[in-house]
Amino acid sequence: MAQEDVFKKLVAHCKEYGFVFPSSDIYDGLGAVYDYGQNGVELKNNIKRYWWESMVRLHENIVGIDSAIFMHPTIWKASGHVDAFNDPLIDNKDSKKRYRADVLIEDQIAKYDEKIEKDVEKARKRFGEKFDEALFRETNPQIQEHIRKREALHERMSNALNANDLNEVRQIILDEKIVCPISGTCNWTEVRQFNLMFATEMGSTAEGASKIYLRPETAQGIFVNFLNVQKTGRMKVPFGIAQIGKAFRNEIVARQFIFRMREFEQMEMQFFVRPGSELEWFKKWKTTRMRWHQLLGFGEENYRFHDHEKLAHYANAATDIEFKFPFGFKEVEGIHSRTDFDLSQHQQYSGKKIQYFDTELNESYVPYVIETSIGVDRMFLQIMSAAYCEEDLSKDGKQDSRVVLRLPAALAPVKMAIMPLVKKDGLPEKAQEIMNLLKYDFNCQYDEKDSIGKRYRRQDAIGTPFCITVDHQTLEDHAVTIRDRDTMQQERVAIDQLFGILKEKCDMQTLLRKMTE
Ligand code: GAP
Repeated sequence: MAQEDVFKKLVAHCKEYGFVFPSSDIYDGLGAVYDYGQNGVELKNNIKRYWWESMVRLHENIVGIDSAIFMHPTIWKASGHVDAFNDPLIDNKDSKKRYRADVLIEDQIAKYDEKIEKDVEKARKRFGEKFDEALFRETNPQIQEHIRKREALHERMSNALNANDLNEVRQIILDEKIVCPISGTCNWTEVRQFNLMFATEMGSTAEGASKIYLRPETAQGIFVNFLNVQKTGRMKVPFGIAQIGKAFRNEIVARQFIFRMREFEQMEMQFFVRPGSELEWFKKWKTTRMRWHQLLGFGEENYRFHDHEKLAHYANAATDIEFKFPFGFKEVEGIHSRTDFDLSQHQQYSGKKIQYFDTELNESYVPYVIETSIGVDRMFLQIMSAAYCEEDLSKDGKQDSRVVLRLPAALAPVKMAIMPLVKKDGLPEKAQEIMNLLKYDFNCQYDEKDSIGKRYRRQDAIGTPFCITVDHQTLEDHAVTIRDRDTMQQERVAIDQLFGILKEKCDMQTLLRKMTE
């Protein structure tokens, strides 16, 4: 199945099984805003817990905060967001559709990549087993030409964007003959900068309302609390402050479901270090964060670092952790060495001294910062797209299939479904009894409707690792049948073993322990 179709199915699955709904659904939705349903919120909370505990609980020198969404407007001046948090936009005069100019060019760059991959695939078919892909890529003149054009275009775009040369950005679109996907024409307006922050007013007009912003990142709430936390927590550099919270961006190209949203959640951690030690810490955090991702078991080959060649003026190193989504490798998390830029800017704009006295060095300095920043929703999408699986179970000429979410057990919304075989003979009561035994530690679901087969499929579709069936024999031998989601194997276990099984397989601790091994 084409990856595009897989993705469409995944989006439909998210709605059908109570993971993600379009916001304001009965009013036909609101662009790039989504609600999480009964299963989605459980998965989302588990992702946040995995992040929070691996940051805050496992690191004695990292603490958490929860800062307000509204902040003093000068913060966004100091951070550079008022002046530079912009997207270059262009309109097509025929379709009246608006696009991000850089995204139009990036899509054109991606076309060269597609051409390269197509040529490689053709050659693979032609040469069969003898095919040496690396050699082919290096020596085939057509591929070399695509690579040359791709790199030239990439460089021209980067130069134009870095120089904020919007005429040149438009000229690239014209030179590449990039057309509007709707009208198919090249009838483009000028390119304009558009600030991504949502603004609103605080206070009534009578008392002089002031313009404030909905935060576009959670990081600034951490920077402006640096002194508060450092002093009250008696924190010693190196130390970190972590935060999970909502962020808002007026994204123009909001596509790919919850990949790019206008209201989303971030999990950010700012790690404050001695100036000069930041690149060593950057390396450490790269390793730690990649391990956090890979422990989920979706295959190391599906992750990669994308080190930034062009750095923001305040950064001295930056990388993205990318995951192979159905629509290609895309950023899930950013790790940035941001020097002392943010704290120094807030020192200057607030007029307050933001420094740390290092007793070992006997000197004061503005600490340097390593930032790890990941979107909860994007991580959610990453997990869902990696876990979604359509399995053909046909056997002996009998057609059968299932959709199963192979979620890591610790993140699954429901850990165990408890099912009485029939709705009578005391089986529901026994099932409820087991439910009452386990529900204080694990999210369990009681299900008595439909055939056992249908109930299994329903639980597979939401990624429940275990189903247990209570039958007549249970009343005598105090044992149940436990079915494993992935292998579909069933075995008989004593009721008093259930807690141990769930603890070993589904507890977050199991995952967290691996983080420190
Ligand atoms: N403080 C740094 C910062 O905000 P960013 O690269 O703009 O950096 C960090 O964002 C992460 O937040 C991204 O890697 C992505 O996971 C998530 N993110 C950013 N914009 C998003 C959006 N519009 N919708 C969903 N997630 C987004």
